[in-house]
Amino acid sequence: MALFNSGAQSEPTKKMTMNEPVESLFDKVPSKLVGQPITRVDGSLKVSGQAPYSAEFHLEGQVYGVLVSATIAKGKIKHIDSRAVEAIPGVIKVVTDPKHFVRNSQQGGATKSPTQGVTEIFYHGQPIAAVIAETFEAATEGAKALKVTYKDETEDAVLDFEAALSDAHAIDEATGSDKNQTQGDPEQGLTDSEVSLDLVYHTPSQSNSPMEPHATLAHWEGDKLIMYTSNQMLASSKQQIADALGLDNDKVQLIARYVGGGFGSKLGIAPESIAAAISAKELGRPVLIVMTRPQVMEATVRRSNTRQRIAIGCDKDGIINTFIHNSISSNLPGESFFEPVALSTHFLYRGENRQVEYQMVDTNQVLSGSMRAPGEAVGQIAVECAMDELAIKLNIDPLELRRRNEPEQDPSQDIPFSTRSLIACMEQGAEKFGWNERNPKPASRLEGDWWMGIGMAAAARGNSLGTSEARVILQVDSSKELGIKAVVETDMTDIGTGSYTVFTQITADLLGLPIDHIEMKLGDTSLPPAVGSGGSKGASSSGSSIYLACQQLREMLADKVGLYPDTIQLRAGQIEKVGEHEATSTEAIIEAGKDIATDLVDKATDVVDNLAEKIGLSASNQKSFQQERSEPNVSQQKSYDFSNFQSYSLADIIGEYDEKKLSAKGEIKPGKNAKNYRQASFGAQFAEVGVHRVTGEIRVKRMTGAFAGGRILNHKTATSQCYGGMVFGIGSALMEEIIHDKHDGRLCNHDLSEYHIPVNADVPQIEVILVEEDDRYTNPMHTKGIGETSISGAAAAIANAIYNAVGIRVRELPITLDKLL
Ligand code: MOS
Repeated sequence: MALFNSGAQSEPTKKMTMNEPVESLFDKVPSKLVGQPITRVDGSLKVSGQAPYSAEFHLEGQVYGVLVSATIAKGKIKHIDSRAVEAIPGVIKVVTDPKHFVRNSQQGGATKSPTQGVTEIFYHGQPIAAVIAETFEAATEGAKALKVTYKDETEDAVLDFEAALSDAHAIDEATGSDKNQTQGDPEQGLTDSEVSLDLVYHTPSQSNSPMEPHATLAHWEGDKLIMYTSNQMLASSKQQIADALGLDNDKVQLIARYVGGGFGSKLGIAPESIAAAISAKELGRPVLIVMTRPQVMEATVRRSNTRQRIAIGCDKDGIINTFIHNSISSNLPGESFFEPVALSTHFLYRGENRQVEYQMVDTNQVLSGSMRAPGEAVGQIAVECAMDELAIKLNIDPLELRRRNEPEQDPSQDIPFSTRSLIACMEQGAEKFGWNERNPKPASRLEGDWWMGIGMAAAARGNSLGTSEARVILQVDSSKELGIKAVVETDMTDIGTGSYTVFTQITADLLGLPIDHIEMKLGDTSLPPAVGSGGSKGASSSGSSIYLACQQLREMLADKVGLYPDTIQLRAGQIEKVGEHEATSTEAIIEAGKDIATDLVDKATDVVDNLAEKIGLSASNQKSFQQERSEPNVSQQKSYDFSNFQSYSLADIIGEYDEKKLSAKGEIKPGKNAKNYRQASFGAQFAEVGVHRVTGEIRVKRMTGAFAGGRILNHKTATSQCYGGMVFGIGSALMEEIIHDKHDGRLCNHDLSEYHIPVNADVPQIEVILVEEDDRYTNPMHTKGIGETSISGAAAAIANAIYNAVGIRVRELPITLDKLL
């Protein structure tokens, strides 16, 4: 079922692999909508409840499923007794398909096979069955009534990360998102350094728990599975569904037009998706399964807890020669995903002796996976608190210490940075925040009952690109003021980040149309595949594919009107001629070769003529042969006379095509730029806190974050992303921690009343500065990821401010008041 126009096979496609720096058309287009703080184009649909989320779709004959979870942390199921359940009015079936109820797994950052363990249990909360009923209420009652007995409830589960640290094992580097690396002699470097520190930090497990719970409405049309689901990356998740169910990839369609957040927990598929698919198949009816909040927290993914060792060696001026970052994180047995805490440690500061080493421990706790800014979000707590501790030890201003340790190039690979704006971020942030007012002496500022302190941290996160495709169609539309609209098609998602809006801006600028003349079709795997929303690369990757499709359309339009692409301008639905064409190097070669070619053709003609005479070819045949050669066929008939060209209406031009539309595709691929240049977004975080002198209560008073992420597509949505990231930092520093019961492995705080996150009263005035930067190596738009950069370092800035306020260094997060008393 193709919901949207799938287009012809031979569709013109502009492809680009990022092997070299490129210019950006955005520097030339007249409208300059890109960058503007345009309000979300989908905002009114969302606030008026008209944007449908997966649980809100309804299909004829639909029934409801509720997952049932294991109540032991390790062991085997002995028996599932469903008699009592099936007696409940409305209950249709208890689905316990042993083939497909396998444990969920997260490899390389995405959940591969979803959950539903049937015989073997690896963690408390693991889904083991689904109860399907005519109503949600009956299914819920049925799920509660299901009797599950286990073979041995006392099998040894590993439920204490700290106690299991001595059993840490090596990581599987082949599937991880980072690698171990040693350069020089780090331990010797540490010993030989004039100044050194060697510290251990602990960060807790955290829950992704996005606002919209994971939900799937599955139905089958013959042998084809269609799923309305909540997911960040549709193309890869579609493949996971196909793999899990043994289907051909083209027999699966995922639809996720609106997604209420994911934070990494929807990078891959979640347990409810396969349960809904197999139940729908068994019943021959559409099945909707929505996970409850506790299930989301217990049976999707968590961010792993970490133990991190940071050791730094430097001279007495603070010039670092040694940087060691070793870590241990946890996951279910057999999993290869580890928390990549040192992703940015490889290149953040100078030092010829370097070491990054990862280890893991196996625990019977919620599956670990990617959570917003996987790696840096907690890695830069350790790195940036240690840098603060070093600055204090050296009696050097923390900003100055970082300035002295700016590497000229990536010290772990000896390749240049595409752009590196850490100093610009620190300077602009410090200025705005008023860093100079800081008294470096801890516990020196008591205001009323509050000890006040300020702190800072650097932020860095790698930038990348993922292969993405998009189609853009220009079509006549009489309902639009300019008689034309552009339709954008890709399976890219908008998880609340603003995809709909920034893609609209990109298309509007490149095609010279107003915002309301652009129509976005996102979130459906029947559309061209994109990398999806994850790793802060969605806007850059998908945006670039849309950019390239628009560029292809511009070239087709230029050709249509007999102009070179570099002499057209699209504005307000008009095509205009601007400037003079500059010959490209290819054109220059062709021009230079023309005389030679003419000469060759003449010689060849003589040869042919002689030959024709010798073999007695008829005169008429000779003539037609010669005509064909001397009057080259004009393949592109120009329908317009542009000798007095001013401008021409796009609607008129597109109206000339048979279907009254013109369609093109764009495809972006990562290339050599990713290997030859270290690409990263940088930032600087500043925080002021108050610590109550009696109760130890900690209040963040204000924060300033300055971030450089290349070209900013929309100052409003980018700023909002950064607000979100910095609020995440508050949660990470002061509140967030999931706690597993050490006796039975149950998640103690499995809802948002017990799992504490910042609420409005916890969030002070936050200032975001978007530092200007132009990076020609990233993609044709010159953008970089920024959302996750704004999380990095945020918690460290708060921790460092707390130290400045009270002189207590807490290396075990979250920093709750009991740790200050
Ligand atoms: Mo993000 S953790 O890549 O969704």
